Amino acid sequence: MSNTIKLEVMRYRPGVDEKPWPQVFDIEWTQDMSILDALALVKDDFEPELAYRWSCRMEVCGSCGMVVNGEPKLACSTFVREYAAVGKITVGALDQFPIEKDLIVDADPFIAKLESVKPYIINKNPRALADKEYRQTPAELAKFKQYTMCINCMLCYQACPQVGLNANFLGPAATALAHRYNLDNRDTGRAGRFKVMNGENGIWPCTFVGYCSEVCPKHVDPAGAIQQAKAAAVPFWALSNLKKEEA
Ligand code: SF4
Ligand code: FES
Repeated sequence: MSNTIKLEVMRYRPGVDEKPWPQVFDIEWTQDMSILDALALVKDDFEPELAYRWSCRMEVCGSCGMVVNGEPKLACSTFVREYAAVGKITVGALDQFPIEKDLIVDADPFIAKLESVKPYIINKNPRALADKEYRQTPAELAKFKQYTMCINCMLCYQACPQVGLNANFLGPAATALAHRYNLDNRDTGRAGRFKVMNGENGIWPCTFVGYCSEVCPKHVDPAGAIQQAKAAAVPFWALSNLKKEEA
């Protein structure tokens, strides 16, 4: 098998290009070459202005999310060899977010969604956590531990059809994060989070397609979190409607 492959990179230069366009490179690949390595080769040898994000190279920082042959992937843990039989790799930005340059997108809308669900422990008694060690049993930790594994890579937002229809939809990772804190027995902030989750752009538009969980590299299962959150949100939704009727 030839060790040359076509790497098509979707380029976008702000102020120059109206929309992304493909630039094709023929690259020599090796068995251990990741997509991130391939982009580094392109940047070093052909196109020094190519822009993309990365940091850890080991599925920890979440910054190298891209669309590879139509699928949301982390570039550092996706390998060129996986596409050898196809003979061509197309790499593009996570275009359910505004593209800033080449493969870099504006993460601010995503960060704003995470912040909107108050992703920290809220306790009505401000001294409760400060005064003493607050121990949790393994069973209490197990309730939410899976949701702490999120690395904020945004792949689930690229996979989500509802985000495609409404960019303001709260979406998978932010809901999984809200669910994580709602399940934490040190927290008393559920009412405030459910206000956001029951809002117009909250959790209810999710139709449980489940692709968000399929693409998640950390097995967070945000689709499952949304369904559990819906069940937990109903009493808060009913209460807020009752208050509206009384007003
Ligand atoms: S839930 Fe998974 S896919 Fe979504 S941001 Fe977190 S790690 Fe990435
Ligand atoms: S470079 Fe950090 S997750 Fe890929």
